[in-house]
Amino acid sequence: MFGLTNSMLGGIAVAGVFLGGVVNVARADNPIIQTLYSTDPAPYVWNNTVWLFTGHDETGAKNYDMRDWRLYSSTDMVNWRDWGAVMSLKTFSWAKADAWAGQVIERDGKFYFYVPVTKNSGGYAIGIGVSDKITGPYKDALGKHLLANGGIDPTVWIDDDGQAYMYWGHSSAYYVKLNRDMVSYSGAITGVSVQNFIEGPWLHSRNKTWYLTYAGSGSSNEDIKYATSTKPTGPWTYRGQIMAPQGRSFTNHPGIIDYKGGSYFFYHNGALPNGGTYARSVCVEKFAYNADGSIPKLAMTDAGAPQIEPLNPYQQVEAETIAFSSGLTTAAKSDGGMYVTSISNNDYIKVKGVDFGRGAASVDLRVAAAAGAGGKIELRLGSQTGTVIATCAIDATGGAQTWKTVSCPVTGAAGKQDLFFKFSGSNYNFDWWQFKQAA
Ligand SMILES: *[C@@H]1O[C@H](CO)[C@@H](O)[C@H](O)[C@H]1NC(C)=O
Ligand SMILES: *[C@@H]1O[C@H](CO)[C@@H](O)[C@H](O)[C@H]1NC(C)=O
Repeated sequence: MFGLTNSMLGGIAVAGVFLGGVVNVARADNPIIQTLYSTDPAPYVWNNTVWLFTGHDETGAKNYDMRDWRLYSSTDMVNWRDWGAVMSLKTFSWAKADAWAGQVIERDGKFYFYVPVTKNSGGYAIGIGVSDKITGPYKDALGKHLLANGGIDPTVWIDDDGQAYMYWGHSSAYYVKLNRDMVSYSGAITGVSVQNFIEGPWLHSRNKTWYLTYAGSGSSNEDIKYATSTKPTGPWTYRGQIMAPQGRSFTNHPGIIDYKGGSYFFYHNGALPNGGTYARSVCVEKFAYNADGSIPKLAMTDAGAPQIEPLNPYQQVEAETIAFSSGLTTAAKSDGGMYVTSISNNDYIKVKGVDFGRGAASVDLRVAAAAGAGGKIELRLGSQTGTVIATCAIDATGGAQTWKTVSCPVTGAAGKQDLFFKFSGSNYNFDWWQFKQAA
């Protein structure tokens, strides 16, 4: 795995032409993950935070090559913290490939992760991961697949009366009622009639309307269509296209949530450098339902959703909290948590809407560097070439996992700013940062 380099980012301008807009890379916040190719967004609001579960296209893949599921979280819709791989094909001893579109839902204090995989014996099947914590690790809940009849792209919804439903399908859609234990079902597997259904269903309800949103057949690539019903089981009335085929990826996949008073539509495209059908990236748009409950038509944008609230730099912030980045990637620490790694010259991290208030006096950076490694981290405002507020030398700490806190003076940081960490040197790792307020 390698990060997407700065020179590759030059390709964003090309993507921008393709996406129909002029791109200022420093302002682009879509796609929302740049450290790897991410797919099949399944956002979930829990504990006042958006938890974004995604699939993952392996870098350099020439076909669908998907081995694990990743997790990100945000409370402002623009800065996303990376929680790493929370489940993988290895979780399911009976599965061999195709970590495709899944979804997590909580019930009775446990988190259930419904995913499609290809079995060792061949054929698609839906498995269930379970964890006491939303961040995992998830274990195989059943030791086998849930349904006898294969199927891909499960979506799960718990209705107001407590009944849980799972929809899924490819070419044909189906649903079944899940039992309270969330790992077994009752009643018949029922076929669902919706116009031009291909895959990737997403079930949700709002204001006594049930929505079935899905990837449908567009003129070329998949589009996103939806249907509504007065019941979670249909019949479904076709309501039109939400998102046209667009964006260099054959597939698309919807994920819809309400959060802090706004509505958000997640999807994927091929907008990152070297992106495409096998190198997809998750994006998000904010939207408002129309008065009749219909969903407006949405375009893929480079800007993404507006920031809900500023980020507080006077608390410890994980380095893998990113609005946009170039070049670097992330890795898991042996004791849990993630850090930023694969750092080289001109890589950067943008953290959006940081509120320095009356001013910062210094910043602590938690870093590790092996013998002979190191460099410097410049902290800049507004862009990667913006005003320098601090320059921190990173010297060898005694090992690539030997963490040390470096403190540097800060000048000129006040008010709300986009903060850029601009890296030079190589072979050092970055765990977290925290500013200290001016007296
Ligand atoms: C819920 O969020 C709060 C605030 O971020 C956090 O302190 C708390 O640990 C979270 N609760 C759980 C169960 O994760
Ligand atoms: C809910 O639906 C009713 C009737 O369809 C509509 O009058 C009302 O405005 C809707 N409320 C919201 C919050 O959209």
